[in-house]
Amino acid sequence: MARPVRAAGESGSKMTISRVVVCALGELADGAARGFEFQTSEGLREGFVVRRGECLVAYRNVCPHLGNPLNWKPDAFLTRARDQIMCSVHGAVFEIETGLCVGGACLGRSLTAIPVEVVDAQVIVDPGGG
Ligand code: FES
Repeated sequence: MARPVRAAGESGSKMTISRVVVCALGELADGAARGFEFQTSEGLREGFVVRRGECLVAYRNVCPHLGNPLNWKPDAFLTRARDQIMCSVHGAVFEIETGLCVGGACLGRSLTAIPVEVVDAQVIVDPGGG
């Protein structure tokens, strides 16, 4: 379960939660994806991280075709070969490293990237950053 962390220097009840600990890096195997939620001023939103070798990326869970979530069940964001991201609604496929749609209904458009880093072996995303 993803959990919010306080941004450095913030305190008190008016703080904005901007970063989310998704999981421990060791819990995200090579070729695996993990969904997470984050709070925005417009409400709760979703994203997902993907690990492929040394590459670790995060995107908003919004398909550029019609704006649907990409997954049909928890953490199901990848093709069977686990070499591309796939939208379960109409089957658009995206490069893992760039989020660029390389096949399907939104060819040439991209997923929206979210900054991600590993701190103390934890995968941390910053949906408000970037
Ligand atoms: S909503 Fe994703 S391909 Fe149509």
